[in-house]
Amino acid sequence: MPKIKLYNNIAQIGLDQFTPDYEVNENMEDEDAILVRSTNLHDITYNANLKAIARAGAGVNNIDIDTCTKKGIAVFNTPGANSNAVKELVFAGMLLASRDIYHGIEWIQTQKENENITKDIEKQKKKYAGHELTGKSLGVIGCGAIGIQVANLSLRFGMKVYGYDPYMSVDAAWNLSRYVNHVTNIDDLYRQCDFITIHVPLNDGTKNFINKDSFDKMKDGVKLLNFARGGLVDEDALLVALDDNKVESYVTDFPSLKVIQNDKVIAIPHLGASTEESEENCALKAAQELMNYLTYGNISNS
Ligand code: MLT
Repeated sequence: MPKIKLYNNIAQIGLDQFTPDYEVNENMEDEDAILVRSTNLHDITYNANLKAIARAGAGVNNIDIDTCTKKGIAVFNTPGANSNAVKELVFAGMLLASRDIYHGIEWIQTQKENENITKDIEKQKKKYAGHELTGKSLGVIGCGAIGIQVANLSLRFGMKVYGYDPYMSVDAAWNLSRYVNHVTNIDDLYRQCDFITIHVPLNDGTKNFINKDSFDKMKDGVKLLNFARGGLVDEDALLVALDDNKVESYVTDFPSLKVIQNDKVIAIPHLGASTEESEENCALKAAQELMNYLTYGNISNS
């Protein structure tokens, strides 16, 4: 009987995929496979029997890939299964960065006893005036499943979109350039964009991808969005760029103590993929990949 060890928050629909000849639970030591969402698996013992790890999500930076490679443990993720949810939250982030909804709501919360609220709103609202997304330029760094969806939705908002992705196939790049300004030099994106959103995986090659050098090339007052991973942005350089008004606001789904102390940071507690639909899609796909691998040795991972 194949044994699957579960780590946090796997939607029930995924667990329901396993036939009764699988043993699936949170407490076992000699598991054949692991099904995980965001738990950090870098420090666990990868037992000799372990054949596969399925991540119900896109990023695999919570898994020790080097050890898995050495031990021949297959690693699956679920690219695309949560991209709709992330795309929608990126837009919430862009709207929060351009319209002062957050402070407006915060003020309303303090007015619950105010009988003159309707009159006071008219006096107060000038403070919260913002800008529109229509006509602004957006740079999308990383045009995979999520980046492409963000780019598409931005066009519907009337934004001018610049896409950068050095790992794109020629066909995909050709397709992208039909409706987005496909840049091959990232400096062009930095120079042109009012908003920049990053959608690349975190690994040794992308740590601090956005750094002092990148900030120096960006437009003054740029708004930066990070719904990919905290480590992609050099936070020391970011804090300087925020103080210098180079960056007007930083919207992040990966807040650290260092950045949330800055008032120009809009921080969200890693909710990008947290919708019922996305959690179900990811769990379903991860469970199916795992069974397919354990039963037939098949890997699709797409
Ligand atoms: C992802 O990597 O797809 C997300 O971080 C998933 C999650 O929220 O668990």
